[in-house]
Amino acid sequence: MNYLIGIDLGTSATKTVLFDEECNVVASATVEYPMYQPENGWAEQDPADWKNAGLATIKEVLQKSGVSGEDVKGIGLSGQMHGLVMLDENNEVIRPSIIWCDQRTGAECEEITRKVGKERLIEITANPALTGFTASKILWVRNHEPENYARCRHILLPKDYLRFVLTGVYATEVSDASGMQLLDVPNRCWSDEVLEKLDIDKSLLAEVYESPEVTGTILPEIAEMTGLSTSTVVVGGAGDNAAAAVGTGVVEDGKAFTTIGTSGVVYAHSDKIAIDPKGRVHTFCCAVPGCWHVMGVTQAAGLSLKWFRDNFCRNYMEKAEKEGVDPYYLMDKDAEAVPAGSRRLFYLPYLMGERTPHLNPDCRGVFFGLNAIHGQPELIRAVMEGVSYSLTDCYDILCGMGVKPEEMMACGGGGTSALWRQMLADMFGCSVKTVASKEGPALGVAILAGVGAGLYPSVQEACRKFVKTAKTCGPIPENEEFYKKAHPLYQKLYADLEEDYRELAAL
Ligand code: XUL
Repeated sequence: MNYLIGIDLGTSATKTVLFDEECNVVASATVEYPMYQPENGWAEQDPADWKNAGLATIKEVLQKSGVSGEDVKGIGLSGQMHGLVMLDENNEVIRPSIIWCDQRTGAECEEITRKVGKERLIEITANPALTGFTASKILWVRNHEPENYARCRHILLPKDYLRFVLTGVYATEVSDASGMQLLDVPNRCWSDEVLEKLDIDKSLLAEVYESPEVTGTILPEIAEMTGLSTSTVVVGGAGDNAAAAVGTGVVEDGKAFTTIGTSGVVYAHSDKIAIDPKGRVHTFCCAVPGCWHVMGVTQAAGLSLKWFRDNFCRNYMEKAEKEGVDPYYLMDKDAEAVPAGSRRLFYLPYLMGERTPHLNPDCRGVFFGLNAIHGQPELIRAVMEGVSYSLTDCYDILCGMGVKPEEMMACGGGGTSALWRQMLADMFGCSVKTVASKEGPALGVAILAGVGAGLYPSVQEACRKFVKTAKTCGPIPENEEFYKKAHPLYQKLYADLEEDYRELAAL
């Protein structure tokens, strides 16, 4: 029997999953690590933690399963995007990695926009300068730690650093490289123009591959340490969202997924490149060679409900503990009994500022319409509806760009809630489905590894065969009609408050 490994290097943990060649899970292992916030708005991680977690979890899945390294034909890497790893001439990590949610680089984003030009930057990199993306982090190190910048010989993304550990190769692939803001996204190669204008030496960057392409094989010392074989290939892999797309079968025009994790994402596959000239949604190369994806991001999706639970739902948490159930299950049950619209209560989910559609780090959360008849169930439902309205804003922009999804999958923690999926179906006006496998990104990159190792003919064919739909829910007509009427008021609230947000930030 042949086997494949998918590794997902996340923000809270690295999860490694061993699949058989029919994509059934054989074993999985997870190792957690911390995120450091040395200053307000900063976020860093130690690449040594990623390395140790990657190696330990590979070793664990092989040991647990008894599968021989010789039978593992390929490894796919997925992970958090945008993080900056700098190596010196001896391949030592120079400083902690500045990761995707770090917000320190506002001044560097202005520098990028000034040097490249706002429109030209969107034309080439398909996105406006964003604090989360890697280019502004590189400039920050150059501006604030010139001695570290001078020592830098290689720049890698988080999962590509793990690839270097496994194979000794400096390589990346198009989907993750799209989030560096240095890639010519329409042409799928580094942009000489952007690199020149920002004065970044191209030799610092890794070679760019397509996601299913083989980038290298396992180093002898790593094979020895983990139980892998030196003949196991490591393919390009993909950034976490592009990997989740493969794991949910979103690899053809008309297919899309919505994920409600800490943040929320509405992601649509596109065979042709589509760029929003206003930069409200991201356009990246996807894991299917020659294709792209467009995605909108809600900063505080699951985070909104978790915030509400942790601060205002102690009673639910105590009851859940006694009954041995998940507090979200009890909260869902009560929110379900409240009619659509939460009895005229709205929630704006801008606890962490917002990416789509406002690109505004200063906007903040709001409950609007509070009345003495409202209790916990109405507030819980309003939070879920507010997040869903925000995801509908993302969905509407994608539709406006001509990438109208015909099939919407739901994933992430929030995607397991039937109530939340129903709200998405009601607001999007289309049916929302789930997939049978819970492994999302790890399954996605294992499929890419199977293509690279020659086990499957193409990403699309493998997805058709192995990614199975589980549950489907369609819109409820009365709810759909109600949300259509209420959504413009939700949108107007942001417009009404925009100036007040500026004043709030300046207080
Ligand atoms: C994508 C993004 C996140 C990170 C972390 O633009 O910021 O999805 O990849 O998960």
